[in-house]
Amino acid sequence: MKIRKKKSSKFKRFIKILLIFILVCFLYSLVEPYLIEEQTIIIQDSDIPQNFSGKKIVFVSDIHHGRFFDRDRVADIVARINRQNPDLIILGGDYIYGDTKYIEPCFEELSKLEAPLGVYAVTGNHDEWENYRLTLASMKKAGITILGNDAEWIEVGDEKIRLNGIGWSSPLEKNEAFLDGIASKEFSVLVAHDPGLAEELEMDNIDLMLSGHNHGGQMTLFGLWAFYLPSGYGQKYLTGIIEKGDTKILVSNGIGNTFVPMRFFARPQINIVILKK
Ligand SMILES: [Fe+2]
Repeated sequence: MKIRKKKSSKFKRFIKILLIFILVCFLYSLVEPYLIEEQTIIIQDSDIPQNFSGKKIVFVSDIHHGRFFDRDRVADIVARINRQNPDLIILGGDYIYGDTKYIEPCFEELSKLEAPLGVYAVTGNHDEWENYRLTLASMKKAGITILGNDAEWIEVGDEKIRLNGIGWSSPLEKNEAFLDGIASKEFSVLVAHDPGLAEELEMDNIDLMLSGHNHGGQMTLFGLWAFYLPSGYGQKYLTGIIEKGDTKILVSNGIGNTFVPMRFFARPQINIVILKK
């Protein structure tokens, strides 16, 4: 009888500790969306022109302004980006979540972004699902250059780099034709919301790809494994730098949330890319 009693009290204690642990994890996941990480990476490449060595690109994706991420928080992100004194700002798509009413206020805040070499952006799936036309019009009004199956040359003095962008729903053949025109010697950046595109496109002449979409898994098993990654290809594009041939693919955790206002071991990120020759 005594042994049985001892066993049941041990089991009760275990259940109690487990419940406390689950509660702590749950509460932490409500706090983590506010713990924004400013993550710096250095991209060193012999194709980077001398005039661009040391230039700072700030990349931000998946803001998802909506009921989980209010306008004040978008304003805070804008202030944080501007405090970095970036040379160039690139936005990776998915600006809102849940309702078209968030589009215009989001871009009113994003119009305050400041960078001498400009602000460039692609669209994500949520932008096309909500109101694509209004998104594009709001971007233009905000002074943001849209990269939709298009390339822009960014110039510093007599040197330049190529900035390529792919919009969410453009057909694969069109993307391939567009990327065909890149020469191998130029430093070429591809901005596309979905990192999974790297598996489908000819990436030989792309030096750096910037993408988001996966939110770092948003809810993960302590950062090691995500329950769901919309990009596909298993856990490959969870977060961070993934290399494919000579291409470095930066997969950002993004800023906002979808489905639930929670993150677990997938902190929101502002990605700071320093170019080095
Ligand atoms: Fe997203």
